[in-house]
Amino acid sequence: MNNSSKINNDIYDDYGTRWYTAYDDPIALLRAENRVKLPWIHERIVAQKLKTAHVLDVGCGAGFLCNDLALKGYQVHGIDLSSESLKVARQYDRTRSVDYQIADAYQLPFADHSMDVVTCLDFLEHVEKPEEVIKECARVLRPNGLFFFHTFSRNFFSWLLVIKAIELLVKNTPKDMHVIELFIKPKELELYCKNAKIDVVEMTGLRPKFSTIPISAYFSGVVPESLEFQVTPSLLLSYLGMGIKS
Ligand SMILES: C[S@@+](CC[C@H](N)C(=O)[O-])C[C@H]1O[C@@H](n2cnc3c(N)ncnc32)[C@H](O)[C@@H]1O
Repeated sequence: MNNSSKINNDIYDDYGTRWYTAYDDPIALLRAENRVKLPWIHERIVAQKLKTAHVLDVGCGAGFLCNDLALKGYQVHGIDLSSESLKVARQYDRTRSVDYQIADAYQLPFADHSMDVVTCLDFLEHVEKPEEVIKECARVLRPNGLFFFHTFSRNFFSWLLVIKAIELLVKNTPKDMHVIELFIKPKELELYCKNAKIDVVEMTGLRPKFSTIPISAYFSGVVPESLEFQVTPSLLLSYLGMGIKS
């Protein structure tokens, strides 16, 4: 494993089906974010008229994106270092078609230019060297292929809301699930992409819709089922984006 920082990436081995079911855990926040991210990404793949694309999700976890795009008819590949998460991903793949493999994002087991779309969602802030990972993603991406990302911006507000508030308010938040040092400023990410010959063409913020959180939820330790996320012009907390390989 290439992760030597204090970020705790071992937690993903212990989730089991809680990836898909738990509300007393920050994993429910990830599911709620995905309800916005997945349609956002799908819309853009469709806009590029990529109907039978090969899609690779790097750090795919339990397969939220892979299983969704497989149902839509894409040929999907998902890699992750957590074999236990991949077991859950396979269990929830209703198409039984996704190619899930245990692999390290720094050494993707795919040929140069073999993918039409590569995604890194809630993932780049989990590795020490995101620039190297992005270069590896660019290697497997074909010219004009699409690169999608979602990650967290590094600043005081994201430390307070994404790390400290979640530790305080949501039950079962593992220690060092996120570390501020690995959060990435949008300008840095744009530069990493540029260095990998990926032009970032779109970036938008993503944040919780606070009106969907009942007051009682702040005291219960449980993520409410009603929680929704929304896109926002501000890139202050987390951001979602698309790049095109030149
Ligand atoms: C927060 S989860 C995100 C999962 C998924 N992308 C999603 O949005 O639901 C981060 C994932 O990155 C994986 N991971 C961490 N370091 C990795 C690496 N070097 N190579 C591949 N996967 C890695 C973890 O096992 C975990 O499943």
